[in-house]
Amino acid sequence: MNIIFLGPPGAGKGTQAKILEDTYGMVQLSTGDMLRAEVAAGSDLGRKAKAVMEAGGLVSDDMVIGIISGRIDQDDCKDGFMLDGFPRTVPQAEALDEMLDKKGFRLDHVVELRVDDEPLVRRITGRFTCGDCGEGYHDEFKKPAKDGVCDRCGGGNFKRRADDNEETVRSRLAAYHAQTAPIVGHYGKQDLVRVVDGNLPIDRVTTQLKEILG
Ligand code: AP5
Repeated sequence: MNIIFLGPPGAGKGTQAKILEDTYGMVQLSTGDMLRAEVAAGSDLGRKAKAVMEAGGLVSDDMVIGIISGRIDQDDCKDGFMLDGFPRTVPQAEALDEMLDKKGFRLDHVVELRVDDEPLVRRITGRFTCGDCGEGYHDEFKKPAKDGVCDRCGGGNFKRRADDNEETVRSRLAAYHAQTAPIVGHYGKQDLVRVVDGNLPIDRVTTQLKEILG
């Protein structure tokens, strides 16, 4: 099964993709994670993306289309993938349609996680992750069972993203409403959009997703 997670910053795309990876065997493909890896590696692409990401804007369509095309060719995508953070503009969605057609893949669902703007700011400014295994946490909504220790790997190397501050979140939300939300219409025409109430607690969002995915 191949799906797209669509939703504003902090909607829970990454949180839900990680939960579903184990249940459905689909791999999570996050363009945000891929770009952050390029920034950390100091590659040409990373250098170009860094300032745009820190300002809360979108990097160029060509850059992310190239990254995703190469990633989908890898073996672990054959059993299914969840696109998290891609596509983010109508031209990216059109390029993806063409790419999947050429590669012989089809999309099963486009899941739109709907969340009001104000809770998103609180979610993002409270987010942190384990630097060793990538497990995601939140200061209020998803604390580690033991303070300072990762539930998954036992590490204690937690980190926060450079773009997870209130000012940048507001720019990311503006970019979402102006450039990404129109994608819903693009996939609506293909009858692929499934709406999920992302305002609910994490486990209740997962329940809605499992009802859709079967
Ligand atoms: P990216 O990394 O994709 O960031 P984003 O879309 O802003 O999404 P987030 O990762 O912030 O949110 P999420 O929905 O995954 O939330 P999460 O599950 O962590 O992109 C970063 C940047 O890269 C972009 O701004 C852009 O510059 C660039 N970029 C990336 N892709 C691009 C593309 N295709 N084109 C151009 N540029 C691109 O949840 C957030 C927090 O809330 C967590 O702490 C979690 O525990 C908590 N939480 C989750 N669900 C719930 C819930 N139901 N209730 C309470 N708390 C919850």
